[in-house]
Amino acid sequence: MSTIDSSEKKVMMITFAVLALFVFSILYGRSKYNDAPECIPFDKAYTEPKVVQLDEKTFQVFAVASMWSFHPSQIYIPVGSEVDFYLSSKDVLHGFNIAEKNVNLMAVYGNINKSTVKFDKPGVYKITCHEYCGVGHQNMQAEVIVNNPIAKN
Ligand code: CUA
Repeated sequence: MSTIDSSEKKVMMITFAVLALFVFSILYGRSKYNDAPECIPFDKAYTEPKVVQLDEKTFQVFAVASMWSFHPSQIYIPVGSEVDFYLSSKDVLHGFNIAEKNVNLMAVYGNINKSTVKFDKPGVYKITCHEYCGVGHQNMQAEVIVNNPIAKN
């Protein structure tokens, strides 16, 4: 018959408590930050720049970064739209930052990063590269034009 020493029991209890806290914090973090960027499996179809309209206010933007521009460079959407950005790079590492929307992605060759953004207010939202990528870095930008009078769609 085996007996467990009381100090051993204590250690086991503490270990269990720490483990439980760890698991809890992971689950909590997941539910709280569920809009964190996702990395999705690479597919060549995502490397063709385009804007796809799924319904009246739902869009997919396949954004491709390359030295030193983003394509598409102007994205026209109606106010209240929800946009899934699928981001890839044709060459080096680029950034993809929409400061007003707290979007902060990395454009990585051979990778797709995704973020979903809702545009509730009209305006012009600048997309900037915030990862140094060479001499043209500071000019590398694009824009999301929400409810602009000259909107094409
Ligand atoms: Cu692209 Cu900096």
